[in-house]
Amino acid sequence: MTARAATKIGIKPRLAWPRFPDVPPHFLHQDRLADPMRAMRWFYDWTVFTPEGLVAAEAYWDEATRALEMLLPERFPANRPRWTGINLGTFTGVFQKAWMRLGYKMYGIELASVIDDLRAYGCEGHQDNVFDLLRIGDATYDFAILDRVFSQKPFYERHELRMHPDAPPYFAKIRRILKDDGAFIGVLYDWYTRNMIEELASLGGLTLWPVKGNRLAFQVDLSLPPSQMPDVLREPLDGPYFTDVKVGATRMKCFLPANEIVRERDGAREAVFAPPLREEAKPRKPQSAKRKPPQD
Ligand SMILES: C[S@@+](CC[C@H](N)C(=O)[O-])C[C@H]1O[C@@H](n2cnc3c(N)ncnc32)[C@H](O)[C@@H]1O
Repeated sequence: MTARAATKIGIKPRLAWPRFPDVPPHFLHQDRLADPMRAMRWFYDWTVFTPEGLVAAEAYWDEATRALEMLLPERFPANRPRWTGINLGTFTGVFQKAWMRLGYKMYGIELASVIDDLRAYGCEGHQDNVFDLLRIGDATYDFAILDRVFSQKPFYERHELRMHPDAPPYFAKIRRILKDDGAFIGVLYDWYTRNMIEELASLGGLTLWPVKGNRLAFQVDLSLPPSQMPDVLREPLDGPYFTDVKVGATRMKCFLPANEIVRERDGAREAVFAPPLREEAKPRKPQSAKRKPPQD
């Protein structure tokens, strides 16, 4: 019998993300926003919305959840009540509850001390760190969602270097609590790295979707064999693994699975980790005093 060749990481078209609704002042409890933690996270904190504002916010989160549900393998949306998921970094639960309205059973964990608010919203969960999860048994959940928790620039200072000098692995603790026929989905911020993607690929069948803001959505189907990272130096530049990016005024190619910009030097290809390059090229915008809905 011949061994089956590993399938390369899959790439899908850009994932569309809904726009957060405009927020008139009477949609928000202005006094709650005096708390810096609430002010920073207001658009996913149900406690800062007035009843009228919460209707609009929940409609947005329903739309965002339907967009993210597309990341799950088809067997999940085909029979939603059958599956139990865990939302990793759930804060006070707007997103977790939208998954529950869709028909899934959901649990949540969150690093911040807001679990009373999570429960007051009718969600189950506890305070925990995605690098620990010690109170959860092996193979407890069918799927996990890690939506915009990892890999913004400060993450490396906060979690990887200071608190977890041995990272990677980034996802081992999460994998432990998932069933072997389960799925792991999420969205990584724009500082995601080759290490992260290689680790995801080692867990099962990996598919990636570009998301605006240089973010990356992913699906790992744990029922499939590990995926293979394509070779940045060999893949055709006009093939599916490369996207067009602008660094300052210069058009370049980004190797999406590793967040690397490819440069040609003396006829040879060279791959450079992309985020610092893009940041250098972006002129800093002055801070606006106005509270604007996030466009993610
Ligand atoms: C952008 S928000 C969450 C958005 C998410 N889609 C939601 O509403 O469920 C990221 C959340 O992850 C939490 N978080 C960050 N690092 C974490 C960690 N290591 N373990 C658990 N939660 C974490 C943050 O406190 C924050 O509430």
